[in-house]
Amino acid sequence: MLKLKKLVKTYRTGDQALKAIDLEMPEGQVLALIGPSGAGKSTLIRCINRLVEPTSGEVWLDDLELTHLKASGLRRARREMGMIFQEYALVERLTVMENVLSGRLGYVGFWRSLTRRYPQSDVDEAFRLLDRVGLLAMADKRADELSGGQRQRVGICRALIQNPKLLLVDEPTASLDPKTSRQIMRLICELCAERGLAAIINIHDVALAQMFVQRVVGLRFGAIEFDGPPEALTPDVLTTIYGEEDWEATIKKVDDDGNEIEAAE
Ligand SMILES: Nc1ncnc2c1ncn2[C@@H]1O[C@H](COP(=O)(O)OP(=O)(O)O)[C@@H](O)[C@H]1O
Ligand SMILES: [Mg+2]
Repeated sequence: MLKLKKLVKTYRTGDQALKAIDLEMPEGQVLALIGPSGAGKSTLIRCINRLVEPTSGEVWLDDLELTHLKASGLRRARREMGMIFQEYALVERLTVMENVLSGRLGYVGFWRSLTRRYPQSDVDEAFRLLDRVGLLAMADKRADELSGGQRQRVGICRALIQNPKLLLVDEPTASLDPKTSRQIMRLICELCAERGLAAIINIHDVALAQMFVQRVVGLRFGAIEFDGPPEALTPDVLTTIYGEEDWEATIKKVDDDGNEIEAAE
C-alpha cells in the first residue's frame, strides 16, 4: 500500500539525508525505523507526506503517486496519513477535546474550522477515541495540564480521528520515561492491529522496537542497512547500523513495571 521508489532528499545545505530509498509496505504492516541520530529517519517519514519535499523519486500510496500532487490533491492525500510527533505538537491553550477534533481540519470546511464547529459525528468519534486511550475524563482539561504520556495519547487520538490508512510516527516515546514509553508503544501497535492500520514508527530505542513490531528497517547515512524481522537484529547488524559506537547505550530494557533492567547477552 506504500511504495517508495528511489527516494532522494538532498537539503540545500548539501546534506544527503536520503540516498535512493526503495521500500515497500503491505496493508496493515507496522514497521519500526531505527538508526542513529542524523540517519534520515525524520526526513524519510516527512518526505512521505511532503512536510519535506523530496529531491527526486516517487512515493506511492496505493495507486496514487504523491510527489507531484498540487495543493488540493495533496490535502486530500494527507488525510490518509496521520502523524504523531515526539513533542506532541498540541495547542496548549486548547482543551483535550479541541486538540483531538483539530485532526478533522483536513475534512471540515474552511468556515467551520474557523469557528471550530465540528459535526456531532466527529465529536462522538472523539469521545470514543478518548475513551479507548483512557482519557475520557480529561476531555475538558487544557492540554497544558496533562502529563507527557497523556499528551501523547491526545496526539494519537488526533491522528486517528483523521481515519488514516497510514500512521507516520516520529520518535513517539523520546520525551517519556521507560514505563510510559512502553505503554505508548503498546497502545499505538494495538490500535494499528484493531484498525488494520499501517504505520512507520521512527524509534531510537531498539529494544522497544523489537518488543512490538513485525518488521524493522535500519537506516544509516540515508541508506537502508537492514530490513527484516526483529529477531534478526543481531549485535553484528546493530553495529552495522549504529557503527562502532556503543549501540548498547541505545537499548533500554524494561521489566513489566517499567524499571530499567540490564540488557541480556
Ligand atoms: N532542514 C534541514 N536542513 C538541512 N539539513 C537537514 C535538515 N533536516 C535534517 N537535515 C540533515 O539531514 C540528515 C538526516 O536528518 P534527520 O532526518 O533529522 O535524521 P534522524 O531523524 O534520523 O535523526 C542529517 O544529516 C541532518 O543534519
Ligand atoms: Mg529524527
